[in-house]
Amino acid sequence: MRVLIAAELQPLLPSDPLPGYGVEWIPSQEPTPRGDYVAIIPLLSRPIGEGELDGLPNLRVLAQCAVGYDNIDLAAAARRGIPVTNTPDVLTESTADLAWTLILSVARRTKEAQEVLYQDSWTGWSPTQLLGLELNGSTLGIVGAGRIGQAVGRRAVGFGMAVLYSDSEGRPEFEEGVGASRRDLFALLAESDVVSVHVPSTNETRGLFDAVRFSSMKPGALFINTARGDLVDEEALREALDLGRLGGAGLDVFSREPDVPRGLVQHPKVVALPHIGSATTVTRRAMAELAVENAAAVLDGRPPVTPVEL
Ligand code: GLV
Repeated sequence: MRVLIAAELQPLLPSDPLPGYGVEWIPSQEPTPRGDYVAIIPLLSRPIGEGELDGLPNLRVLAQCAVGYDNIDLAAAARRGIPVTNTPDVLTESTADLAWTLILSVARRTKEAQEVLYQDSWTGWSPTQLLGLELNGSTLGIVGAGRIGQAVGRRAVGFGMAVLYSDSEGRPEFEEGVGASRRDLFALLAESDVVSVHVPSTNETRGLFDAVRFSSMKPGALFINTARGDLVDEEALREALDLGRLGGAGLDVFSREPDVPRGLVQHPKVVALPHIGSATTVTRRAMAELAVENAAAVLDGRPPVTPVEL
């Protein structure tokens, strides 16, 4: 019995990750092969919809190696009775660290500061050069207080920030643990000095950050996105930055990866990274192993470790 695994995961896994199955390593830029495969472990860049699933009639499990699964047509998988799994939890802390890398970089204008050195234009210490946002005493607004949003909020305590969150559910433990207060989205945008996004990409959230949302933010506030690029109208973000409505943005994700909007990436007020939120050795290995564990469980007739609700 054959299984398909994203070739990019090979260095993170044992040579025979699913003993008893024939593994075919498939590079993620290649189309999904058709055939009698019983499992597939894809990356988030592989679209899996009706067409791909029609070509995999024997598929018994779709074990995504990522926490997000917006590349997968869940309804199409559900219609065929194919369980979908993802890799939550193992990447929470590393992704929260990366969100904070962006928060700190944008607040303290490190891109513009580095440019001064790169251009050899530094004339010496100046009391008014490159003044940034003092995080201590400022307010962090977390949009989506799930696992990663809460981990970002926990770190805010150490930086002396007040924490607001918007979420479809109240999160009493988060409120107690970090002193966070729940707001509706527009109140959060109006009150936060830094807004960090942690919602999945769904039909409801796609394009959520548009011109209206950006103009509802505090003048000069910072916008951080480590979730998904298509949550944001990138043109509207660029305009808000150009007009000085926003003070800066930190972006790890883009709507058409790996194509990136050059104007945004090169903007002096934008710190941009190539989707490396979970990119630590420990996390990426744990993600690969969890994806394999999920596939193995379903193939063995056991419940998957981290199923996606279909
Ligand atoms: C990365 O973006 C993931 O969803 O794991």
